[in-house]
Amino acid sequence: MSKVAVVTGSNKGIGFGIVKALCQRFDGVVYLTSRDETRGKEAVAKLNELGLKPEYHQLDVGDRNSVEKFRDYIKAKYGGLDILINNAAVLDADFMSGTYEDVVNSININYKSIFSMKELIYPLVRNNGRIINISSDCGHLSNLKNEYWIKRLSKADLSEADVNEFVNWYVESKKNNTYNPEDFADGGTIPTYRVSKIALSAVTMVHQREFESKNISINSMHPGLVRTDMTSGSGFFSTDEAAETPVYLALDAPQSLKGAYVWFDKKVLDWYDYKADYYFKIKTLNW
Ligand SMILES: NC(=O)c1ccc[n+]([C@@H]2O[C@H](COP(=O)([O-])OP(=O)(O)OC[C@H]3O[C@@H](n4cnc5c(N)ncnc54)[C@H](OP(=O)(O)O)[C@@H]3O)[C@@H](O)[C@H]2O)c1
Repeated sequence: MSKVAVVTGSNKGIGFGIVKALCQRFDGVVYLTSRDETRGKEAVAKLNELGLKPEYHQLDVGDRNSVEKFRDYIKAKYGGLDILINNAAVLDADFMSGTYEDVVNSININYKSIFSMKELIYPLVRNNGRIINISSDCGHLSNLKNEYWIKRLSKADLSEADVNEFVNWYVESKKNNTYNPEDFADGGTIPTYRVSKIALSAVTMVHQREFESKNISINSMHPGLVRTDMTSGSGFFSTDEAAETPVYLALDAPQSLKGAYVWFDKKVLDWYDYKADYYFKIKTLNW
């Protein structure tokens, strides 16, 4: 039976780099997926020009109906999958008008989408499979300065409900105009993105516990500051370079690496070290 790898939001940027690298190294079928079919098929054509042959399927992680269709397709065609890289994300809300609707939309794509993936796609991940959540340096706990939430997110028995309440606390603060930049590092810059990624890395550890019985490894990682549309081309790494650690986690890391937060240089960091200096600094963008 074919092994199957799936990368979300892979028509461009880091996701595209990951598909490219997996096509070169993975002994199985690689799915490039995108919310927009035209953009996705154009990306496949670019890889075909390099002699690489990813498969394609539409997948909008923010649209449950789309995730269901993808689930049905993979289940019927392969019975399951082996590698899932949750890469799709947006940075819109913090740079556009920053309206409440923008905040909700970004949180939905970057964080809440993980729940429809978990419900519909994770059960298809075969024993000893791997799930990699592309988080960010914005996802390390040191991005948070609010003592109550630092403590609550550090609980050994952390639950989805804890993480959801954290996210809702922030979203409500945007709705009620009570958002306090002092609750976050770096003067509270790009708070929606920070919250979505802190939540994604936190829930990674919860989901690891839930899928332990199938010996699935679920980790989150920071890909480095990468030259993509998200950073308007600012960054230290190309998308090919940025793909190295996600692909390492998918193919080379020990299966025993579980529920970890991994840096772009493959080092496992202590996610709970809230006093550390790992948090994102806006000045590194050099805009
Ligand atoms: N670049 C960096 O320096 C950096 C640093 C830390 C973390 N990251 C993380 O790395 C990942 C990739 O970012 P990137 O820099 O490659 O960004 P990017 O170039 O903007 O690419 C983002 C991708 O996600 C897709 N996407 C957005 N919403 C989606 C949805 N609802 N369903 C499916 N796909 C969707 C986009 O599709 P469209 O083309 O349709 O918009 C695009 O393909 C993200 O998780 C990001 O947060 C990036």
